[in-house]
Amino acid sequence: MTADQGTNAGCPVVRTDYRIDRPVHEHYALLNRDREAAPILRAEFTPVPFWMVTRYADVLEALQEPDTFGNEVVNAMDPRRGFDLLPQLLDPPEHTKLRKQLNRFFSPAAVRRLEPLVVSHCAAMLDELAPRGGCDMVSDFAIRFPTDMFLATLGLPVEDGKQFVTWVEAVFAGFFGSNLQEAHRAWGKMTDYFDAALDDRLRAPRDRESDFLTHLVLMTIDGEPLRRKDMLSVCLTLMAAGLDTTRSALSYIFHHLATHPADRQLIVDDPARVPRAVEELLRLYPLVFQDGRKVRRDVDFHGCPMDAGDVVWLGLASANRDPRKFDDPDAFHLDRPNAAHHLSFGAGVHRCLGMHLARHELAIALTEWHRRIPHYEIATTDPIMERGGQLTLRSLPLRWDVG
Ligand code: HEM
Repeated sequence: MTADQGTNAGCPVVRTDYRIDRPVHEHYALLNRDREAAPILRAEFTPVPFWMVTRYADVLEALQEPDTFGNEVVNAMDPRRGFDLLPQLLDPPEHTKLRKQLNRFFSPAAVRRLEPLVVSHCAAMLDELAPRGGCDMVSDFAIRFPTDMFLATLGLPVEDGKQFVTWVEAVFAGFFGSNLQEAHRAWGKMTDYFDAALDDRLRAPRDRESDFLTHLVLMTIDGEPLRRKDMLSVCLTLMAAGLDTTRSALSYIFHHLATHPADRQLIVDDPARVPRAVEELLRLYPLVFQDGRKVRRDVDFHGCPMDAGDVVWLGLASANRDPRKFDDPDAFHLDRPNAAHHLSFGAGVHRCLGMHLARHELAIALTEWHRRIPHYEIATTDPIMERGGQLTLRSLPLRWDVG
């Protein structure tokens, strides 16, 4: 009956630490175990205990109730507010006003406008990589490609990507590891970088319809321009929300394709299948495995007494693999009819702003990669490790024949 041992308010208690590194896919197995133990559990492995909501229907319901489950907390395992994230930390109606202003730069049409640049940049990176016969997927491609594309989306020089990657790596090593001092230093460097770019747009505005930073400095909400501090928070949030996630998605997807040659062959034979494959792989490998929320009023949530102020974990990954929603949930099925119902991008008002961009980048990366490198395998017998907190592969050495 219990996930670990004991109960709290009738809910089984979880003491498994989801913040630590484990062999690849172990987190999913643990999350499956917890979901099957009960729909709501009590987690007691962090300084601030929290409620874990594990099943698809309940997770979706809570994501769609921002009046009850507020976004003051975005990570249940660390509810302190280390960095100001915008629009993430806002609740409606303030959240709605800012999202409205940001949405159009991340709409499907906006993403399509970037397509020629994304394809040519990806092709150039892979033309350089393919003759090498091997690489570390994570450090040689998966972080570099989304970083460059992020800069392009914001209208910043793609050539700054190399410098940016070192800051991004330092920030994430701090977010999900121990080196918080180094993370704050890199955060400071990126703040200076964006500050200078915003000064530039104030001095010399560009086309507001196509240049994100010009739009940011000129936009008004309730007749007022954004404060500089908030503009910077938006830029830094986009960086924090968009880069580690896309890198991680690429690493899990390529791990799957390297270890499942029959699935890989499906897209090598017919690249038109790539978008469907991406959707199903996003469902199968959710890397933001939980969304944190703070309870805003006393509530009885499906029999669990939650008090205002309690921290809640909405289990995106356990929901994506819930057999009550998805048949044979731990397997890849290219033609799964409801794959797109996954919660990898969240749901409700905070649903991922960058999801169209992410899907597009992933599809282009898969298409261009398999055009050049159709057959490859994992190039190590060492265990592949995944980071806790928010999943990513630490490294993924691949090798292939060079003809
Ligand atoms: C595979 C890649 C990605 C995954 C799995 C992902 C996942 C998520 C999830 C689960 C949320 C919901 C957080 C919540 O409910 O509190 C979210 C929000 C967000 N994402 Fe993504 N994301 C990805 C890529 C991106 C990209 C490329 C960008 C932009 C460059 C981005 C920007 C954002 C922003 C700004 C939010 C906050 C939205 C809000 O609070 O209104 N994400 N993402």
